[in-house]
Amino acid sequence: MMLEVSGLSARYGATPVLRGIDLAVGEREIVAVIGRNGVGKTTTMRCLIGLLRASAGSIRYRGRDITQLSPDDRARLGIGYIPQGRDVFPRMTVQENLVVGELIGASRRQSRLDLVFEYFPILKERRRQMAGTLSGGEQQQLAIGRVLIGGPDLILLDEPSEGVQPSIVKLICRVLRTIRDDLGTTVIFVEQNLDTILALAERCYVMEKGEIAQELPKGTVSRESVRNHLRI
Ligand SMILES: Nc1ncnc2c1ncn2[C@@H]1O[C@H](COP(=O)(O)OP(=O)(O)OP(=O)(O)O)[C@@H](O)[C@H]1O
Ligand SMILES: [Mg+2]
Repeated sequence: MMLEVSGLSARYGATPVLRGIDLAVGEREIVAVIGRNGVGKTTTMRCLIGLLRASAGSIRYRGRDITQLSPDDRARLGIGYIPQGRDVFPRMTVQENLVVGELIGASRRQSRLDLVFEYFPILKERRRQMAGTLSGGEQQQLAIGRVLIGGPDLILLDEPSEGVQPSIVKLICRVLRTIRDDLGTTVIFVEQNLDTILALAERCYVMEKGEIAQELPKGTVSRESVRNHLRI
């Protein structure tokens, strides 16, 4: 397994938020973490990238225990993180945002600026525009591009469809699949949007109250099974 999470717990102050998460993701998989608002999906991502310290449990990446590593060290090992709400630098241009990605990403890789522009042509068109003036969908493409440019082997993506128009969500799903197929990149994404889950996920983990309540294995991800768990 590429990523093995065992008994992962975390708290905000005295409040426990994650209560022993177990999950395992293989190389080249695309796996969704689903569940309703406030169940701990974002907290899980923050723990995986190291922005929040685990209070118990372990995270192994390619056989190595990374539970105590800083987010920078995890990025250098090839883990890219795109936060919920995207977090691009609004007063920097598109191109400057991408260059920052080059600096903080897995620096051993060669630049992939041209590749990012190929995947997301709108970013090339807008490369001199301030990121803060982009639409939600363009900012999401930029946030993904900024991570891609560092050549990650594992991408953690928190709610890519949020505030993004459906046609751009489709484009983003298509690009993520292409990246997996062409570059072998593994993707773990948080999502609540049914169509996005169906378009992208090969497998799902369902979260409830800080725990993995269920797994939807490969071949069982369907409109019915997912809808049941999101209770739409
Ligand atoms: N910085 C914080 N300090 C204290 N509590 C927090 C903090 N961030 C989140 N929480 C709480 O932790 C719980 C899990 O939040 P989290 O953001 O992980 O949920 P989520 O599944 O990502 O929700 P959403 O679907 O709304 O994004 C919630 O009860 C939330 O109120
Ligand atoms: Mg969230």
